[in-house]
Amino acid sequence: MVTGDLVQDGLQIEAYEYLHTLLGCLEAPYYLIPGNHDNRSALKQVFHETTYMDTAAERIEYIIDTPKLPFALLALDTVVSGEFYGQLSEEQFQRIHEVSCTLYKPLVIFMHHPPLTPGTIDPHIFEYFKRFSPALLDGLKFIGAEAFANQVSGLSSLRAILSGHLHLSAQLLWQGIPLIIAPSVAPSLKGVIPYKEHLARIGMILQENPGLAVHLWDSNINNLVSLFKYYKLPT
Ligand SMILES: [Fe+2]
Repeated sequence: MVTGDLVQDGLQIEAYEYLHTLLGCLEAPYYLIPGNHDNRSALKQVFHETTYMDTAAERIEYIIDTPKLPFALLALDTVVSGEFYGQLSEEQFQRIHEVSCTLYKPLVIFMHHPPLTPGTIDPHIFEYFKRFSPALLDGLKFIGAEAFANQVSGLSSLRAILSGHLHLSAQLLWQGIPLIIAPSVAPSLKGVIPYKEHLARIGMILQENPGLAVHLWDSNINNLVSLFKYYKLPT
């Protein structure tokens, strides 16, 4: 699962073409969801051959549920065009409800934005951001977090919600559900022109080494094992 912000500027179609080439080297199947840096049209255009994406639908969201998989993956599209923050709508809550009613195996949800709300649910995480850039706080909000919480908090099949966006590796119990926030690969762009100046303005991107989370399914415990991998930047 590649959980969004697949490219820096979603309007540059060649960025998706480059990503397409890179991901084409993988032996494992991969699944994409958009983040706030992405452009859905460009993404769909370049990855039009994928079978899991409904290119006619506006949002890029889907469920992966095959007989071989002991669990199901629900990818939710939390992007609000032109905005930094995330959102889930009534229509998506309905979909979650339908999926949960018909599913007889564990479920893992993927979404780019974690469903956090500054200052209410998770003061520690947002204090962290305030130190770097108070202006970012508004952009980190999530519209619909409370309704989403009502929708999923009683779901016994839901094993975890996996997200990114914050450029910060963290895990917490959100509404009793493990919420795992993966680190970002963006710091690997440090020192790369033309991103150097852009990154220098946003201290939070440089706080961690580039990294990612790899989630393995362990059938013995019928649950996820999440590994965090970090890469050292050249000095
Ligand atoms: Fe993001």
